[in-house]
Amino acid sequence: MKSTGGTTAAKQRAARAAADRVSDGMTIGLGTGSTAAHAIDALGERVADGLDIRAVTTSFSSRMRALDAGIEVIDLDEAGGGIDLAIDGADQIALDAGDCIKGGGAAHTREKMVASAADRFHVVVDETKIADSLSHPVAIEVLPAAHRLVADAVAKRGGEPTLRTAERKDGPVVTDNGNLVVDANFGTLESPRSLAAELSSLAGVVDHGLFVDAVTAASVGDDDGVETIVY
Ligand code: 5RP
Repeated sequence: MKSTGGTTAAKQRAARAAADRVSDGMTIGLGTGSTAAHAIDALGERVADGLDIRAVTTSFSSRMRALDAGIEVIDLDEAGGGIDLAIDGADQIALDAGDCIKGGGAAHTREKMVASAADRFHVVVDETKIADSLSHPVAIEVLPAAHRLVADAVAKRGGEPTLRTAERKDGPVVTDNGNLVVDANFGTLESPRSLAAELSSLAGVVDHGLFVDAVTAASVGDDDGVETIVY
């Protein structure tokens, strides 16, 4: 797994702050990425100490991590009563607005499904992910046949599209759902909400990494400590 952003200690502090909010009987959504992986590990330690939870994962990677940590994994379909709390990382978060951009691990479609099925969505980040306004490129998962169509639509809206390429494979990144990812750089986002709606309406788009009005809490870790904001 690629680790971007701040230090391991900062990520672990943020992850632990969210994992500490989990209690017996909960169904937990487990995100993807290096910070979410620390939350999975922290929950695994608590499970070993007797915590009784089950989890819905957001990627092949988070599923394997959860199973290795000894956490019971179920499908979203099986989470009958819904998800009590989803814990996930982010590529960038605007703390005042509580909006964030995800998809650095190309898992944002399932991450959004799990977040939207959850009563609470707790984002865990290190301090390098904080911004006054969102400006990180927006990951867009697209059906393979639609990648040019979507790239053209992004360019028409003033964005700079890039088809995400794999690092240890020739060609594009293929998501866990068998699709491709177009990263769209729009610079600073004046209106994340309207951009989110526009991107969702494009033919061939599966989902994008703009999470607007979804975050209910954010824990920000740094090398000295962690702060949690509840929205
Ligand atoms: C995966 C994600 C990740 O949560 C995001 O990329 C942050 O990852 P990390 O904690 O490794 O910086 O959205 O799709």
